[in-house]
Amino acid sequence: SLPRTARIAVIAGDGIGTEVIPAGIDVMHRAAGMDGCTLEFTEFPWGCEYYQRTGTMMSADALDILSDFDAIYLGAVGAPGVPDHVSVWELILPIRQRFDQYVNLRPMRLLQGVPGPLAGRSPADIDMVCIRENSEGEYSGLGGRMHRGTKHEVAEQTGLFTWRGIDRIARYAFELAQRRPRKLLASATKSNALQHSMVLWDEVVESVAADYTDVTCRKYHVDALAARMVTHPQTIDVIVSSNLFGDILTDLGAAISGSLGVAPGANINPERTHPSMFEPIHGSAPDIAGKGIANPIASIWAGALLLDHLGMTAAHDRMVRAIERVVGEGGPRTPDLGGTANTRDVAAAVTDALS
Ligand code: NAI
Ligand code: MG
Repeated sequence: SLPRTARIAVIAGDGIGTEVIPAGIDVMHRAAGMDGCTLEFTEFPWGCEYYQRTGTMMSADALDILSDFDAIYLGAVGAPGVPDHVSVWELILPIRQRFDQYVNLRPMRLLQGVPGPLAGRSPADIDMVCIRENSEGEYSGLGGRMHRGTKHEVAEQTGLFTWRGIDRIARYAFELAQRRPRKLLASATKSNALQHSMVLWDEVVESVAADYTDVTCRKYHVDALAARMVTHPQTIDVIVSSNLFGDILTDLGAAISGSLGVAPGANINPERTHPSMFEPIHGSAPDIAGKGIANPIASIWAGALLLDHLGMTAAHDRMVRAIERVVGEGGPRTPDLGGTANTRDVAAAVTDALS
């Protein structure tokens, strides 16, 4: 049965986050309202401006507050003057880790009408999803620095890979691949050079594969996979990757899809014991912030993924179709897609295309 109301926490954050998230909220309201669903958005002022005022990225009880919501809708954090490791480690990573959002799902599709940078490619050739491990791996945060500020300074950054962490992300990816027509899974590895972590990765993925014999699974070294995404994108369907590898591959996938401005992401806690978080994959884009020209499509699409996660599948489908229609039928587009429209024009056109 359809949920009638959903309570959504909003952290618009910094830069263009504050421009694209309101656009997404408008479209979500309308799309969900068409099925009689009500969305209650509660905005929190957390981010770099908050940090500059208070010394912390979020209030001390932020995670407790967020835990009461059905989902979290995030723009982007990051501002000149605040080190990026502060904004990431004090806001994004605590949320992902505390709420065990161990799946980072990132669709990468070439939409009809978007000029792809790979000449001659069509939407059928570029339709990939990356399932990125989102709770451990290279972003475990383990390590340290010593002899700080001297010429003897050393830093150690340790990757942490667990059987359980790899097993659960691999299962999620195999299950997604099973539901897609091509049933292909590419595992991003680097077991030639990373002889401990990535060999365990390969072993666990292989053991999970035995439970999904209808999925064709191949492992690729991550560097070769990056090249393959450009040269043979039509051979890639679902990708499963570690945290760092997925971070890099999905910016590449967004570029192949035409722009970072159209690429959405979902941080999912599949067991639903905690809220999941939905965000565009781009950052706060200081170079264009304040100009009103950020592409809202990534945020609108992330909002669609949020509604899908809450069971509002019709609203999700309606939003994605509306995006496809605006982009594919010569609707307004922002400069990153070669147009002259602003954020508001595009959001309004998507809203109009809902019906
Ligand atoms: P970025 O994604 O903010 O920008 C990269 C390039 O893509 C820029 O030229 C920007 O103008 C363009 N771009 C991004 N989103 C766009 C959109 N919606 N429409 C049109 N053009 C768009 O990445 P960058 O420059 O590496 O980082 C800027 C700040 O954002 C940093 O402080 C960084 O730490 C932060 N960041 C935050 C993330 C998050 O909150 N999840 C993710 C990535 C970066
Ligand atoms: Mg990234």
